[in-house]
Amino acid sequence: MSEPIVFVLNGPNLNLLGKREPEIYGRETLSDIEAACRALARELGLAVDFRQSNCEGELVSWIQQARETASAIVINPAAYTHTSIAIMDALATCSFPVVEVHLSNIHRREPFRHHSYVSRVASAVIAGCGAHGYLLALRHIAHLLQKARG
Ligand code: DQA
Repeated sequence: MSEPIVFVLNGPNLNLLGKREPEIYGRETLSDIEAACRALARELGLAVDFRQSNCEGELVSWIQQARETASAIVINPAAYTHTSIAIMDALATCSFPVVEVHLSNIHRREPFRHHSYVSRVASAVIAGCGAHGYLLALRHIAHLLQKARG
């Protein structure tokens, strides 16, 4: 049997990780995070499809694609977390685990970051663990998929 596919989707400006406000988002680049996700996924028996886009519509299309081919989504929607009904609606159509990840703890930052449209439809939310949050999300998904297999 082939490995379950997990889409790891990243929203706007996350391509700048490492250079962008490192005191908030850390010094690891998105490529570092991708490499760490791939290494852990291998251990967990998962296949990772890792993507980043600055465009809301592209993220929506990828979520629709995941519905057809993936077993779970890890998503850091970045600023779209706080604005995008389109991303929330797309995720609401997914009948598999969706884990929302934020590098920073959005709840101890500016008030406009406290509300997440995505949290309304996410199975789980991880915030404030830095890049490690992505790995925690993959472990949680592996746990859920294993439980579902029985
Ligand atoms: C973020 C938090 C968002 O508020 C912000 O717009 C981001 C990154 C995080 O990972 O902490 O771009 O999603």
